[in-house]
Amino acid sequence: MGIPLPAVRASVTEALSGAIGTGSQNPWPPGGAAAGYSAPVAYYNGGMSLLSILEFPDPRLRTRAAPVSVFDARLRQFVADMFETMYAANGVGLAATQVNVHQQVLVIDMSDERNQPLALINAEIVEKDGAQVYQEGCLSFPGVYADVTRALKVKVKAHDMDGKEFTYEAEGPLAVAVQHEMDHLAGKVFVDYLSPLKRSLLLKRLEKQRKQAAGA
Ligand code: NI
Repeated sequence: MGIPLPAVRASVTEALSGAIGTGSQNPWPPGGAAAGYSAPVAYYNGGMSLLSILEFPDPRLRTRAAPVSVFDARLRQFVADMFETMYAANGVGLAATQVNVHQQVLVIDMSDERNQPLALINAEIVEKDGAQVYQEGCLSFPGVYADVTRALKVKVKAHDMDGKEFTYEAEGPLAVAVQHEMDHLAGKVFVDYLSPLKRSLLLKRLEKQRKQAAGA
């Protein structure tokens, strides 16, 4: 749909193809578990791993992520793992907060073909314009959806995986995804925008979905 792909795409694709095979023995961020990286490895797939996704109301979802300062092969591996995890869960976006890594990394792919990976590191909104209502879901809230009002267009400044700064403009659903994932990195979730009544109805539905999924 004419969405410009940022320069980061080539390196994401490279990472996705397993070309950067540092493996999960060498997790990012540097410092490993002490720095908050504790995602269990579900399986190995060409050097990538599925990360486990925190679900609401896990208090760790309220953590504010720190800026990334080290751009290395381990960061690329982490980004590849985030894409793998997002695609495996049929999601369109994932923030590092959701896999219990509190660094400013987010990934998005809104394409039907699942071939337009976008990774934004240290993203900051520099301009926003207009408003839209969009029905949002979230991998941390499986099976529930709600209408949220956000800016129609956003312009962000971000780093690519080599630490190079670029600007990225998004509009419509893609702008929703950017704002939703950036909220996660600030410890916010989409239900924070709902009225208390709507939020409690949605959380009841979430509980019901969870019981059904558990086979109760
Ligand atoms: Ni989410």
